[in-house]
Amino acid sequence: MRRVAVIPGDGIGPEVIHAARRVLDAVSAGHGIELSYVEFDWSCRRYLEQGAMMPADGLDTLRRFDAILLGAVGWPDVADHVSLWGLLIPIRRAFRQYVNLRPIRVFDGVDSPLRDAGPVDLVVVRENVEGEYSEAGGRLNRGFPDELAIQEAIFTRAGVSRIVDYAFELAGTRRGYLTSATKSNGIVHTLPFWDEIVAERAAAFPAVRWDSEHIDALAAKFVLTPQRFDVVVASNLFGDILSDLAAAVAGSIGIAPSANLDPTRTHPSMFEPVHGSAPDIAGRGIANPVGAVWSAALMLDHLGHPAAAAALVAAIEHTLATPSTRTPDLGGTASTTEVTDALIAALEG
Ligand code: NAI
Ligand code: MG
Repeated sequence: MRRVAVIPGDGIGPEVIHAARRVLDAVSAGHGIELSYVEFDWSCRRYLEQGAMMPADGLDTLRRFDAILLGAVGWPDVADHVSLWGLLIPIRRAFRQYVNLRPIRVFDGVDSPLRDAGPVDLVVVRENVEGEYSEAGGRLNRGFPDELAIQEAIFTRAGVSRIVDYAFELAGTRRGYLTSATKSNGIVHTLPFWDEIVAERAAAFPAVRWDSEHIDALAAKFVLTPQRFDVVVASNLFGDILSDLAAAVAGSIGIAPSANLDPTRTHPSMFEPVHGSAPDIAGRGIANPVGAVWSAALMLDHLGHPAAAAALVAAIEHTLATPSTRTPDLGGTASTTEVTDALIAALEG
């Protein structure tokens, strides 16, 4: 029996998590998987009522679980850095979830905004606990004309090596091709260091072909020739931007999943759709549940159930290929519930 902490969050978070739970129940029954769930109301709603996104002992509570399934947090009345630094970033850091894994595919039936996107199937491996997202720095002379802000990027040998190793290993299980995102022409300390470590670690993975691209050129190639990429490894900031770009190339942010992994399995990993709480469509029953369901598939894979994970992805493929079971973000008219019912029918069919 594996224990899953569920944090539905705000906006469409609860809507897509409800859908993911229904689909998880169906696939678990079919594959003899036993999962138990405990739901937490940690959210901007809680922040507005009680002054904190989660209780003071929230991380200790989560520590006892095998995985965390999260919807989305964020609400217009609460500054976005409060919801991010009050919940998501503490979880990623306390549980050493140093890999942010974001698979991207162009599915049959989903129109990419690109004319000839072709068979895109890539994974962005984003460094998730250091890099440009650091607390090192500060602000001086607030309110004066000489006011200034300094933000330090932190790149460690241990931190870069482990994310690069993870990406090389993953590429070895896929098409055997790794691209490293860099900008060592302009950023003269951290990214040359990153490049050196990538080249060093490559020696341990002779079966994987690899190259290195500057982030600006890479952004252009993601739009012009997304088919050519397999696994792309990037620092925290570059990976964040590239994965949203790639998700847009794949047709809708509503289908993109992500996993925040502690590959050592010392701590629980966290699985969440890439999209946010979508206040503009919250409460209307039209949120696309696919991003949350695909995230649940990544969770099943991580918990040791690859066959069930593959069955979920096959159900997603089938459902997206059918025009009547697409939500409005994909040009369809189906509701969240109708897509969820179709996913369950595809699993059982
Ligand atoms: P968003 O992803 O919530 O929405 C962007 C656009 O995509 C909106 O038009 C929305 O309707 C649409 N969209 C997103 N998910 C969809 C789905 N499943 N089905 C159909 N359409 C979908 O990003 P936005 O508007 O920048 O942020 C809204 C709030 O969410 C903010 O408070 C932000 O901080 C938060 N956020 C939270 C994240 C998280 O919890 N990991 C990630 C990104 C944003
Ligand atoms: Mg982002």
